[in-house]
Amino acid sequence: MPTTADNAIPAHMAIIMDGNGRWARQHGLPRLKGHEAGAETVRCVIRYCRDAGIKVLTLYAFSTENWARPPAEVLGLMSLLKNFLRDNEPELHEHRVRLRIIGRRGDLESSIVRELERVERATAAYTGGQLILALSYSGRSELVQATRAIAEEVKRGALRPEAIDEATIAAHLYAPDVPDPDLIVRTSGELRISNFLLWQCAYSELYVTPVLWPDFREADFRAALDAYRQRQRRYGRVEAAQ
Ligand code: IPE
Ligand code: IPE
Ligand code: MG
Repeated sequence: MPTTADNAIPAHMAIIMDGNGRWARQHGLPRLKGHEAGAETVRCVIRYCRDAGIKVLTLYAFSTENWARPPAEVLGLMSLLKNFLRDNEPELHEHRVRLRIIGRRGDLESSIVRELERVERATAAYTGGQLILALSYSGRSELVQATRAIAEEVKRGALRPEAIDEATIAAHLYAPDVPDPDLIVRTSGELRISNFLLWQCAYSELYVTPVLWPDFREADFRAALDAYRQRQRRYGRVEAAQ
């Protein structure tokens, strides 16, 4: 079993990027300015992860629940997403990073889906790391779509209900080959998971910082990694002998 010595660096880090709105309010700015500042943090954090040797970074960028925000904010976020793709694609190629999308992609505007899928295809063979964007993502709807797909297989006679196990469910998630996140970071101090990676977070280490996402800097990133290094991942077992 992995012990402290094995978790020097998370193989997969996932981040709930929260606090853009509060950052904007603190600065007397409209919420969208907070999202713009947050997009800058994204660029930096991708680099910190690369420099630290983290192989997979999943970013919670937009939840299914976020569609209920004011239309102007949703529109602004979608346009930031387009800009993000345009600005960051060269770096993905340069560093051979594979881009993947998880979530209900059919909810997104078709021009955005086309762009996302074009970049997904163009980077599909890269092995320099993975950047996974959770867009219109909900852990519960991920499990609903997995359940439906499994039910279809049972109906076709391709699968016996008794044969369904944890591996069957894991195999029907959006990115089935990606290992579960070792570390989930949430900024802005909220102590909740907000429908993120519900299946995959079973044994993730959680790290919450009060820092708002637009203020999250390299020192904060290092602090998260330092905290992770101190954790003893027991997976329900007895503490390993030192
Ligand atoms: C996170 O910041 C960005 C998204 C959820 C899209 P918020 O917009 O949730 O910021 P707060 O929580 O209102 O401060
Ligand atoms: C979680 O943040 C979703 C994203 C970061 C995209 P929210 O701000 O939407 O979550 P709640 O509303 O505080 O739970
Ligand atoms: Mg929030």
